[in-house]
Amino acid sequence: MIRSCFDNLDGRSMNRDAGLRLELLSRRSLFHLFLNIMQSNPRKKDSMNNYQSNENTSFSRGTLISLIIGIFIFTASYCFAQSKTATNTQLREHVSINDGWRFYKYSSADKADNLIYDVRPAVTENNDSKDADSKPTEAVKTEATQQVLKPWILPTGNAFIKDLAKRHVRPAGNPGGDFPFVQSNFDDSDWERINLPHDWAIKGPFQKGDKAEVGGGMGRLPVNGVAWYRRKLDIPKSDAGKSVFLDIDGSMSYAIVWCNGKLVGGWPYGYNSWRVDLTPYVLPGGVNQLAIRLDNPNYSARWYPGAGLYRNVWLTKTNPVHVAQYGTYITTPQVSKSSATVKLEVTVDNSSKKSADVEAFTQIYALDANGNKSATAVAAFPIVKRQIAAGGDAKVSGSLVVKNPKLWGSRPTQTPNLYLAVTTLRVNGKAVDKYETRFGIRSIEYNPDKGLLVNGEHILLKGVNQHHDLGALGSAFNVRAAQRQLEILREMGCNAIRMSHNPPAPELLELTDKMGFLVIDEIFDSWETKKTPHDFHLIFPDWSEPDARTFVRRDKNCASVILWSFGNEVGEQYTAEAGAKVATRLRDFVREEDPTRPTTGAMNYAKPDMPLPAVLDVIGLNYQGEGIRQDPEFEGTDRIRTAPQYTPFHEKFPEKMVVSTESASAASSRGVYLFPVSPKVSDIIRDGRGGDSKNCQVSAYEQHAVDFGSSAEKVFEAQDKHLFVAGEFVWNGFDYIGEPTPYYSARSSYTGIIDLAGFPKDRYYLYQSRWRKDLPMVHILPHWNWPERVGEVTPVHVFTSGDEAELFLNGQSLGRKKKGQYEYRLRWDDVKYQPGELKVIAYKNGQKWAEESVKTTGESAKLDCKADRNRIKADGYDLSFVTVRVTDKNGLTVPRANNNIVFSVDGPGEIVATDNGDATNLVAFPSKEREAFNGLCLVIIRAKKGVAGTIKLTAKSNGLEDTAIQIQSEFTR
Ligand code: GAL
Repeated sequence: MIRSCFDNLDGRSMNRDAGLRLELLSRRSLFHLFLNIMQSNPRKKDSMNNYQSNENTSFSRGTLISLIIGIFIFTASYCFAQSKTATNTQLREHVSINDGWRFYKYSSADKADNLIYDVRPAVTENNDSKDADSKPTEAVKTEATQQVLKPWILPTGNAFIKDLAKRHVRPAGNPGGDFPFVQSNFDDSDWERINLPHDWAIKGPFQKGDKAEVGGGMGRLPVNGVAWYRRKLDIPKSDAGKSVFLDIDGSMSYAIVWCNGKLVGGWPYGYNSWRVDLTPYVLPGGVNQLAIRLDNPNYSARWYPGAGLYRNVWLTKTNPVHVAQYGTYITTPQVSKSSATVKLEVTVDNSSKKSADVEAFTQIYALDANGNKSATAVAAFPIVKRQIAAGGDAKVSGSLVVKNPKLWGSRPTQTPNLYLAVTTLRVNGKAVDKYETRFGIRSIEYNPDKGLLVNGEHILLKGVNQHHDLGALGSAFNVRAAQRQLEILREMGCNAIRMSHNPPAPELLELTDKMGFLVIDEIFDSWETKKTPHDFHLIFPDWSEPDARTFVRRDKNCASVILWSFGNEVGEQYTAEAGAKVATRLRDFVREEDPTRPTTGAMNYAKPDMPLPAVLDVIGLNYQGEGIRQDPEFEGTDRIRTAPQYTPFHEKFPEKMVVSTESASAASSRGVYLFPVSPKVSDIIRDGRGGDSKNCQVSAYEQHAVDFGSSAEKVFEAQDKHLFVAGEFVWNGFDYIGEPTPYYSARSSYTGIIDLAGFPKDRYYLYQSRWRKDLPMVHILPHWNWPERVGEVTPVHVFTSGDEAELFLNGQSLGRKKKGQYEYRLRWDDVKYQPGELKVIAYKNGQKWAEESVKTTGESAKLDCKADRNRIKADGYDLSFVTVRVTDKNGLTVPRANNNIVFSVDGPGEIVATDNGDATNLVAFPSKEREAFNGLCLVIIRAKKGVAGTIKLTAKSNGLEDTAIQIQSEFTR
């Protein structure tokens, strides 16, 4: 990923940070001065009257002094900050413009303006809850009978269309130019004030019932509709002559941009990052007004897409000669422990009116674990000179050898070491641009018989699929929330992520690079045929090339990315040669952009003898490895039924690596245990078989999967019997909003290993027992609070990284059991419930390995709060995730407690959202009141920007002892 030199993960540039720090300094100085004056006042503790009168005198004197000094400091810092901009010696600025937006959404689509990208087909039928693997259907043709803005938007993608003849020519005219919202003088003061990243739908309310406008599939949240974002831009006079770009990391969806009343361009697909060139539209030194229109259709996805400017937005300012967008490409064709060849290609744009003699010089620095650059360069590419015509571009390239490279590799056996390439461009000896590229030196082998080899070491892919929403925070990207997800996954032993089914926020790949996850980066869930009436198929003809190319161009330097997937379960699996032709075209775009990584696609239907798999470099199978719907119940149905496919694919494509891009799709509700317990290793979900359609919950005995899926253990067995398979990407890591299979009256999925609030389900420990074999662990399920089951059979199951375990109930051994071949859990299925203590001792190779016990608890008595971090940054972005437990008087979590809890906060922080991980809970996420779900609740606290101090969260519930927790919000970075 490419970033300017001053970027950091929080989405702010150094420039702005420096400004912020100065501003904070002046504010803090004022505050301290005030305090000093107060403290030096000997009479301040006198009687109230005295206090007040003396206070008044000294306050006015103190205030005056502090004000004068404060104003002086503030003015000096402001002038300093301004003078930095005024002299503008920056070679390149990449400035966050996340703050200070105004937002307006029409109350309904009928009331919206007519500035549409294109017409959309009417939705005649939409089955919200149809099976995820239903066969996609033909696109519906629609003719526009009104003016549409598409012809003005298409040219934004031109840089990503290879054939110059196919690039779009902008028509004359300025549609929307007279619309009030795009005018500089439009009064937007009654529009909502918001900061980005912003997801307009996440605050809800949830839409309930069968007739909801947005159904369960898309998360029952108001994603659909037309909305506007407006903001002034700071373009000082000194920016005259500079190139000014608007960089949007993601906008959901159909974004159209106007600057100073002029239509600039836009990008329909919500998941890609994109840029428009504002240079011809801005007025340096003048008022500059940006207006962005989004039009997010209903029926556009099989999951919650989010809505709005939901990722970071930047202004990038460069000199006319500059490194192009995503303009560096670094590869490491030869890697060993002692040396590595590093190749670099730099694309330089000359947007000036005269030709330029450009010198490009790139140095490589090592980055430490904190992202700090080594003091000196470890290597430098030879200087390359080029003459670049006015308005033209050129590619310069070079190659060098790094001795004893610190290799990038996945944890835990390797270290994700990173390097930074710093490219300087000079024109006539004067530096004009400095551009940084983070990359890793690593070799990856995609071996058809062994799987993945990273730097020569076999690494089994222990992966999960992740959707882009961050639970109760919605799709609004937040670095800490994403990092927390990765930390929880890493603790489970997960080493790989498939970005299902869309490119993530750039900062997420920065995290996977730094934390050492292996990534399948994926772009499409549909091509020409449709899964939902308004999905990507509508724009496929115009945008498949720009979208496919920009996806690779943005992420190609990320060390963590190991595979490009350009399709998930697409309808073109069914259309033989025609489908393969579409696939070939897309694959070639990807290959042309990055020939160093193989392509893949996720196939749930295509068989080895069909044309589509032959197009892919790596065979990606969804559920086919274990077999699909082999249960007799599905005989004679028209659903996909497939016998296990690992071997047939391996035999047909002996030269291709095979990976399970989606496995399992097992479902469960955290802490809900349903009886009877299935005797099977893997079972479907029906009432009485792991399902409860009345309460819409799925049993957490962790044996049940959606109709086409398999339990975790069935997948383990299939993988262990086919050791050539590179590993699996479980569907899925965290629950996500939308797609609540099998109960579409709910709001969020059941298939996560971890619930929507981030609390591990029992399955987490099953994966941990397999993926972290060296971690001594053992886990018991279910909980042991079953007053209604005394004397009834209540099976006890155990997950352990050991090979044997002995179970005790109230001190009595219930026997010692050993895992057999292809057994991954130990089960005591005939335990009769008696309250008390269940204890398990696990063994490995005959030695005691781990121990756990579960006790019957008392009544709910107290609340307990624990923050994942007690110190956070006062930057307006940082978060603390607080787990609130309902406990008995001894502090044990009451596993079936659902007490209603009310939260409040004091100090410089706010409650952004609460959740409890219950897929059926339709209380809006920002609510400060929520029922616990099986003993747990989550509160997400965000620090206020620029105000340090103690944030106090209090949790109260009728009849329970309150609790409170303190979180320090700090200026430290
Ligand atoms: C798969 C699909 C995923 C998700 C999953 C749910 O078929 O690729 O996107 O829908 O099923 O179980």
